[in-house]
Amino acid sequence: MLVVKTVEELKNVLFRVHSAGKSVGFVPTMGALHEGHLALLQQARSENEAVVCSIFVNPMQFNNDADLQKYPRTLEADLTLLQGLVDVVFAPSKQEVFPEPPTEKYDFGQLETVMEGTARPGHFNGVAIIVKRLFEWINPEKAYFGEKDFQQLVIVKKMAKQYKLQTEIVSCPIVREESGLAFSSRNKRLSDSELNLAANINRILRGSSIIGNPSVEAIKSFVTNELDKYPALKLDYFEIVNAQTLQPVETLKSAKHIVGCIAVYVGEVRLIDNIRYK
Ligand code: PAJ
Repeated sequence: MLVVKTVEELKNVLFRVHSAGKSVGFVPTMGALHEGHLALLQQARSENEAVVCSIFVNPMQFNNDADLQKYPRTLEADLTLLQGLVDVVFAPSKQEVFPEPPTEKYDFGQLETVMEGTARPGHFNGVAIIVKRLFEWINPEKAYFGEKDFQQLVIVKKMAKQYKLQTEIVSCPIVREESGLAFSSRNKRLSDSELNLAANINRILRGSSIIGNPSVEAIKSFVTNELDKYPALKLDYFEIVNAQTLQPVETLKSAKHIVGCIAVYVGEVRLIDNIRYK
């Protein structure tokens, strides 16, 4: 496993890999790796001859300074986990990625005027800036993204289409702890009692998918009423949306695929999750 820190080294290594005719699978991450990341890497491993993982806490996608400062950074442990699973790890400094403040502006239309887009202004522009640069430097055949960040996945797919990128975006199912809580790097900031509390988020979402005679209103009031039982869980939003356009639906008949997306504060830590209704 090669650990590279500069863009020049990365490009040189990738030039050799591409010249050898090897297919490249890429998994971008912000580190503090967990089983969700490992599942993406395993899928990349099974579908490509070479696997690249990036670890970079991208300041451009944080709109909250405390969240950026407190984001877990565990590079040594991450590298241990990656041994044997990936060929190249790209772990650059901020200065290496952004020698100058980036000025790119992306427009994803209505996809970014909802949910994370409104709750975290500038977030998806920041994601697009880093993902586009990484794709240009690595030029992977396939890149792997988790459905846990559902809106991000839809937006990255849109970007690949808009810019006619050669990289195929592969979506991977959410990996969960036994309690149902979706693995997240931010879970590392939760105490044991907060972890137990956070498990209610997915339990409530699962409950909402099996209520009798479901309508959008019934699902929404089920989720908000259930969450109200836990004052330490603060709902940021819960939206029931068309899985392609991400626009809120009025009825469950309004679209072929419908997802419920939620953001909840557990203490200071903001977690997201989602569930497919159809
Ligand atoms: P990060 O939160 O580290 O996640 C990296 C990838 O792992 C994303 O595609 C995310 O959806 C996926 N992932 C996280 N938790 C998961 C889980 N429980 N099950 C399945 N997949 C999961 O998402 C980012 O980083 C950044 O925005 C990034 C794309 C790296 C750009 O900076």
